Amino acid sequence: MQNSSDDARKPIIAILGGTGKEGRGLAYRWVKAGYHVIIGSRNYEKAQRAVNILKESIGNVTNIEGNVNIKAADAAEILVLTVPYKAHKSILERLKSNLEGKVLIDVTVPIMPPQITVVQMPPEGSAAQEAQKILGDNVQVISAFHNISYEKLLNNNNIEYDVLVCGGTKESKSKVLQLVEDAGLTGWDAGPIENSVVTEGLTSILLGINKKFGTHTAGIKITGVSHSIRK
Ligand SMILES: NC(=O)c1ccc[n+]([C@@H]2O[C@H](COP(=O)([O-])OP(=O)(O)OC[C@H]3O[C@@H](n4cnc5c(N)ncnc54)[C@H](OP(=O)(O)O)[C@@H]3O)[C@@H](O)[C@H]2O)c1
Repeated sequence: MQNSSDDARKPIIAILGGTGKEGRGLAYRWVKAGYHVIIGSRNYEKAQRAVNILKESIGNVTNIEGNVNIKAADAAEILVLTVPYKAHKSILERLKSNLEGKVLIDVTVPIMPPQITVVQMPPEGSAAQEAQKILGDNVQVISAFHNISYEKLLNNNNIEYDVLVCGGTKESKSKVLQLVEDAGLTGWDAGPIENSVVTEGLTSILLGINKKFGTHTAGIKITGVSHSIRK
């Protein structure tokens, strides 16, 4: 599938911190959809191990590779950031020049343990706004995937969850909405980057629901808009 001419036109995606749970979940979905995905890590061998684990579950595909974050960022058109919030600022400052002119999908939720079920936002308003401030206007920062658990991504099941997408220009946001659909989810244009305070904050509420009911996979679904109107 990854060798079709359609797939050749798909942008290369690098997932920074892609060795972790959410990064591997997204990689799983996009590799299966025919994108070339680079798993980024601070450690080259760790990236290779994550690639091998993904290949064991997907099959012996060729459209996935691993590298250190900086080389992954240089080689891709679309970057996805999936690191714990404590690493957010430092990784962005380190890779700032490598992200110039690109699209960054920020999946980071500003969760600060131990109070993970209480919304805690950085002074900039949200993690995505913090990223935009660090990177400047020459990077399209778009926030997405905050409300979808990795456990729902790492398999072939249909996912009935929705993804709210904030920030970016019309063009960059439509690229991200396509990536949401190609991951098997329903994406919604949720407005400007300022609205990311809601989508990032919602994760703490979902974690609270998970805690209360002993689940891991609470998520969201928009109702009241028919599928035909969306198209
Ligand atoms: N897990 C979920 O279901 C889920 C759902 C929605 C959103 N999120 C958000 O997505 C982000 C990633 O979550 P996760 O569960 O995938 O986290 P994770 O598994 O704990 O960590 C992801 C990766 O981040 C890298 N990392 C850790 N500390 C770092 C540091 N100090 N500097 C640079 N890189 C570091 C590690 O990669 P290397 O060691 O290979 O460099 C690690 O494999 C978080 O902000 C989380 O809130 C998670």
